[in-house]
Amino acid sequence: MKELKKIFQQNEAWAQQARKEDPEFFNRLSSVQKPDYLWIGCADSRVPANQICGLQPGQVFVHRNVANLVVHTDINCLSVLQYAVEVLQVKHVIVCGHYGCGGVLAALDDKPLGLIDNWIRNIRDVLDLHSRYLEKIGDPKERGRRLVELNVATQVTNLGNTTIVQDAWARGQSLTIHGWVYSLKNGLLKDLDLCISDKTALSKAHRLTRPE
Ligand code: CO
Repeated sequence: MKELKKIFQQNEAWAQQARKEDPEFFNRLSSVQKPDYLWIGCADSRVPANQICGLQPGQVFVHRNVANLVVHTDINCLSVLQYAVEVLQVKHVIVCGHYGCGGVLAALDDKPLGLIDNWIRNIRDVLDLHSRYLEKIGDPKERGRRLVELNVATQVTNLGNTTIVQDAWARGQSLTIHGWVYSLKNGLLKDLDLCISDKTALSKAHRLTRPE
């Protein structure tokens, strides 16, 4: 007997509905994927890339981890990025954070959480770098929101500094990287206006992620 029976029933209903709306849906998707976007987002169950963006299967390549980090030594994220940029030739890479992110808020807290502290250390580095600015913000909720934004901006510059993105720009490939933040409260995306398509724009954005 199947475990999680309800999910299999829902899956059957979904596949049937998809075929009803478009009889060629699965035939088309099983032969090729040609997404224009790579989404690097948080693993949080409330932030599903496709639904938020109104995109169908096949339209967005997705990598998710705790607090949407782009770490220079993370072979998982870098492999996804390389495949998306070099094989799928996506046009846009989006780093999307979200307000109320547990990973980011954990960085503001001193409570030990075990192994994941090594991952969250990357956000604590962002926090340390901007501590003077963040300490001036009296409201803890607002401080958390600003750290979410600073974290996204930092990950966008990390992304731009990878060999994968640098090589793509060097060979003239059209590739723009973006920083967005999603609100759990109203379901809307906010563009942090970090649309970076070349090295000049990257160095400008890099300055934004330095302390004031
Ligand atoms: Co999160």
